[in-house]
Order: sequence, then structure tokens, then C-alpha cells
Amino acid sequence: MIIKKYSVLLIAVSIVLIQCKEEPANITKLVIPPPVVLDLDPTKIAEGKETFRHNTFGDEALWTDVLRLDKAILGEVNGGFGPGLSPATALSIGLKVDAEALPQSVVQGISDGSIDLNDPLTTVALLNLDAVVGVKGSFDGNGNLASVGVTCALCHSNVDDSFTNGIGSRKDGWANTDLNVGAILGFVDNQALADILSVDVATFNSVVNNWGPGRFAPVLLMDGKVTKPNGELATLVIPPAYGLQGLTHETYTGWGEISYWNRFIGVLDMGGQGNFTDPRLNDPEKFPLAVERGLYNINIPGEDLIDPKLESLLEYQLSLLAPVPAPESYDEPAAIRGQQLFEGKANCASCHAGPAFADNVLHTPEEIGIDDFEANRSPTGMYRTPPLRGVFVKANGNGYFHDGRFSTLNEVVNHYDSHLNLQLSDDEMLDIVEYLKAL
Ligand code: HEC
Ligand code: HEC
Repeated sequence: MIIKKYSVLLIAVSIVLIQCKEEPANITKLVIPPPVVLDLDPTKIAEGKETFRHNTFGDEALWTDVLRLDKAILGEVNGGFGPGLSPATALSIGLKVDAEALPQSVVQGISDGSIDLNDPLTTVALLNLDAVVGVKGSFDGNGNLASVGVTCALCHSNVDDSFTNGIGSRKDGWANTDLNVGAILGFVDNQALADILSVDVATFNSVVNNWGPGRFAPVLLMDGKVTKPNGELATLVIPPAYGLQGLTHETYTGWGEISYWNRFIGVLDMGGQGNFTDPRLNDPEKFPLAVERGLYNINIPGEDLIDPKLESLLEYQLSLLAPVPAPESYDEPAAIRGQQLFEGKANCASCHAGPAFADNVLHTPEEIGIDDFEANRSPTGMYRTPPLRGVFVKANGNGYFHDGRFSTLNEVVNHYDSHLNLQLSDDEMLDIVEYLKAL
């Protein structure tokens, strides 16, 4: 009798226990907080889009007058120098072609092979159609290539490959993960760049040609730091330019807000014609080459071609939402468990907080358990919490964290587990990864 009584009690207790344990599983739908929706002006968005895609801000002064990219594209046989840049080569170093800019005859010619993709003059023809993403050619009255410049879209747009690899509809804001910026810098007349670093052209080429795709080093010609202390080449993974709604700190190390950085990269890296002042660059310890080159205070003699564009450019960037992952690309029950860990036991949400999954706070290298090399190349000495919405895209990119040091999300979560001593089980780590894939 007693035994029977106890077993009834036991069953009752276990039902209660099971119910408690099952409670979280009652959540059957993953709910991701929505992105910040801003009230934007459609006219300005349209103007900013035009700027983002097509405006060189007069950077032909660098890319044509100094680096002679136009002549490098033409090649020696067409009055330039070197082998020339055929569309085949251009595609192989990650340049993209906007299929929507191609007339039907050109689409046909590429399909049936009657258009020669190994002829640099075909590249010139594509430039004339404004079809090379992020590269803008200007033509004289006789249809000859007169100058070439680059736009924001060079690094921050991709295409959907709908026609073929590298040719498709534009995807603005998506990092061009294939773009080999170093190969482009190795291809132009780069004597002037080598001079800034006080190295010969061969040395310069040996560096930039080894950067690899989807990478760039925006402060190389300001601090001269070619390699990291561990000997690897010092590059940054080109970030996306979408999903910036609600963020106050731009760049991996929090140099400033969006328009500050747009002006920075537009003037100092693209070579656009605009003014730029930041006394933080007047630091001979951190930025000896910037001090030498007077980059902390640039006042161009002519018209500022960047400043009037910044407001609408910002509006366009803020209109670009991070992509949403397909529901079948992650395991929903695991992601639900991962969300609870992210917000609870693993404490990720203490930094990856709010609608952008970023706290708008800078963190010390020690806090996140990485070295201080890149942090110290910026005035802040810190790393900013990156937004995580759309981070699933990086599975096909060049790694996570500023320098791509982790190649998978599992590696990222493993790193946090050991650095923060989170004591997560293997299954819990996998659940967090599924949640990250769902953002
Ligand atoms: C040669 C490639 C290149 C070009 C051209 C370029 N960028 Fe970038 N951009 C980068 C790299 C690399 C970074 C990362 C810098 C860092 O974090 O220190 C970056 C960072 C950014 C960021 C910060 C993103 C974030 O999440 O913090 C924004 C915004 C941005 N770029 C916008 C632009 C705009 C607008 C233009 C045109 C005016 C432009 N970029 C031109 C390579 C480029
Ligand atoms: C102390 C604040 C902090 C905490 C806690 C934190 N992060 Fe981060 N997280 C950062 C910072 C800062 C970076 C940028 C590191 C870099 O760029 O080198 C980052 C980068 C990342 C990235 C890479 C994003 C990208 O675009 O490459 C992922 C993914 C990520 N964190 C996920 C997590 C997860 C999951 C947790 C919890 C296990 C977590 N973080 C906990 C601050 C934090």
C-alpha cells in the first residue's frame, strides 16, 4: 500500500518536473526583435544611392593622374602599359558586372562567345556602359577612355550572380568578399604608394598581392604597419554597409559615426576631392605617415566634392537593412534554446544588445580576449561591438572578427566559452550558433 502511495506521489512529482522542464519548449516560434525603422526621405535615398554607386568624388586625381589605372586597364597594346585588364581577369580578381546595365546585344554576345572576354577593350566597353560595379570611366568626344575613378560600391556592393559568376543584379551594402583590392593596387602604377611606405615597388607588390580577397587596410598609408606582431599581413575584412540603423560607432575600432567615416575613406583612401580634419591623426607615435602627409588637416584648393553628398549618402546607407536568413537555413528549436543561452547563461546580450545586437560601447581587447594590435591602430584603442543582424552572410565571407581570425561561428562561440569561462556544453554551443544563423 505504502509503495503504491509513494509511486503515485512519484508520478505526480515527475509530471510536475517534466512540465517545468518542458516549459521553455513551449516556445515554438523564434522571435527576433525587429530592426530599427527610421523615417527616411525617399528623394535623399535616391540621391544617396546614385552617389554610393556612381560618384567618384573626383578621385580620378588619384586613380588616373597618379596610379594610372586607365592606362593599366588599356594595356600596352592599346596605348597604356602592362598586359591590360580583360573582363576575364577583372572577374578573377573579384570585380563585379552589373547585368542590368548590359544591353540585350551584349548579353547575347557574352552568352554565345562572340564578345571576347579576354580583350581589355571589352572592359573599356563595359566601363562605357557603366557596368563595372564601383569603377567609373569617363570618355572623351571620340569615345576614348579619358579617366577612371572608384566609388563606394567597389568594396561595399556585390551582385547576385544571376547571369553568371560575378555578373548579376547589384546588391548594395553587401561586402564584396571576392574583391582583391591588393591585386588592383599591385596592377596600377604604384610607385607613389611604395614611396609613401619608403619601400621599392617589388616589396610593395609582394605585400598587397598577398592580402587576399575581401580585405583592405585603410590606415596602412597612415601608420606604415604592414604586418601584425604575429607576422601575418595586417588587413581588415571588408564589412557590409547595411544594418547600420541605430549604431553610433562605425568601424571595427570605433573611429566615429557613419558620415565621419564616409568622409575619412572618401578623402584619405579613395582620394576623393574633399576636406578632412581630425587632430587625432596628428599623432606622430600612432600615425607617423599621416603626420608626414598632413592628413590630419586637408583643405583642398577647389570645391569640396564630398561634403555636399554626405547627408544623402547617409540616408541611403540607413535605408539598407541587413538581409534576413531563410527559415530553412537554421534549426528553429535549437535557435530558440540558443536565444535563451545568448540572453542568459552565455551573457552575449550584455554587449550584443538592442535591436542591432550591439551596445554602442567600445570594449577593451582583454574583455573579448583578443590582441590589441588593430585597436591600437585607431585613436580609441578599443573594439566596438559589431551588429550581428545578417551575420549568417559571413559564412560565405572571409571570417569573423575584424581580421577574419575565426573561420566559423562555432570557433567564435568556442572562443567566448573559454575566454569568459562560460562552461557551455557542446550542445549549448551548437544552439547558440543556430541562433546566430537566425539573426
Ligand atoms: C577599398 C575598399 C573600400 C572602399 C572603396 C570603401 N570602403 Fe568602406 N570600408 C572598407 C573597410 C576595409 C572598412 C573597415 C574599416 C574599419 O573598420 O576600420 C570599411 C568600413 C566602412 C563602414 C563602417 C561599417 C561598420 O560596420 O562599422 C562604412 C559605413 C563604410 N565603410 C562606408 C563606405 C562608403 C560610404 C564608401 C564610399 C565613400 C566606402 N565605404 C568606400 C573598405 C572600403
Ligand atoms: C564584452 C562584450 C562582448 C561580449 C560579452 C560578447 N561579445 Fe561578441 N563581440 C564583441 C566585440 C567587441 C566584437 C568585435 C571583435 C572584433 O572585431 O575583432 C565581437 C564580435 C562578435 C562576432 C563576430 C561578428 C562579425 O561580424 O565578425 C560574433 C559572431 C559575436 N561577437 C558573437 C558573440 C556571442 C555568441 C557572444 C556570447 C557567447 C558574444 N559575442 C559575447 C563584444 C562582445
